[in-house]
Amino acid sequence: MKVLSGITATERTRVPGSSGRLRPGGIRVVMAGKGGVGKTTITALLAHLFSRQGLQVLAVDGDPQQNLAVTLGVPPKNVEQIVPVSKSVDYLREKTGAGPGISPGGLLTLNPDVSDVIDRFSIPVADNLRLLVMGGVRMAGAGCLCPEYTLLAAILRHVPRLPEQVILLDTPAGLEHFGRAVADGFETALIVTDPSYNALSVARESVLLAQQMGIKNRILVVNRSGTKGDIGKVQEMCGKERLFTQVIYLPANPEVVRNEPGVTQLMGQQSQFINEVRNLRDVILRTEIS
Ligand SMILES: Nc1ncnc2c1ncn2[C@@H]1O[C@H](COP(=O)(O)OP(=O)(O)OP(=O)(O)O)[C@@H](O)[C@H]1O
Ligand SMILES: [Mg+2]
Repeated sequence: MKVLSGITATERTRVPGSSGRLRPGGIRVVMAGKGGVGKTTITALLAHLFSRQGLQVLAVDGDPQQNLAVTLGVPPKNVEQIVPVSKSVDYLREKTGAGPGISPGGLLTLNPDVSDVIDRFSIPVADNLRLLVMGGVRMAGAGCLCPEYTLLAAILRHVPRLPEQVILLDTPAGLEHFGRAVADGFETALIVTDPSYNALSVARESVLLAQQMGIKNRILVVNRSGTKGDIGKVQEMCGKERLFTQVIYLPANPEVVRNEPGVTQLMGQQSQFINEVRNLRDVILRTEIS
């Protein structure tokens, strides 16, 4: 495993730009929420913000749609060359003993050693920032014992133990996708929603799952919101029972759409949106430093 700066999250390290030190184990964040609410946009912005602060960041794309790379600003010709882990037939075979064209039978290795996965598959995106693309799973879902799922679940169990100081896991639409594998070592869930009834309902379901999984910090991010009406609705549907440890509102911003699919242009702009995303980064940092 290459540690880019020689710093590891297993020792307490001073967080650049802050007076505190990072807890051993680093910052492990999993995204959840309804489709289209802004999970990938927020993952990419946080990845750049943390890495520009000098922390070693690994962004993990757990969504079969694989759009985190372009959102992070990886040029299209480089995106085309990315081989997602689950599509690497040789690796799949080597690690699980099974793969496309081979009947898994009783030969599937259920707990494969994936300690080399970051070296083999992650790509550099910017200073201090790498990306790992997991790829799709043929039969995603609880109880799926296909080789791809076995491999991806093993990677998720391994990822929290990596030396990177910040790990951000983008997911397709929720914590259900990889089941309990995400709970191992991920201490923060960012549950992203918009102020619509349907998205808030999904947020409620996701936070209950996160709570059951023992995820300690459950931050509700209400994207494209901020009016009094929005706040009232959020309090009504999600404000009770201490389900969420924190609520952050991000306003709608036409610049996000104007610049999509990439977010790097947004970083240099002065806007309430980007200020609130910085605030979100600081909220996450504050829970992880002492
Ligand atoms: N605050 C915002 N203001 C305006 N547009 C936004 C904002 N946040 C996200 N968007 C836009 O909303 C769209 C959906 O965002 P994004 O892809 O990040 O959602 P997602 O939750 O990852 O979706 P999926 O579940 O399909 O992966 C994108 O076009 C993005 O540019
Ligand atoms: Mg997405």
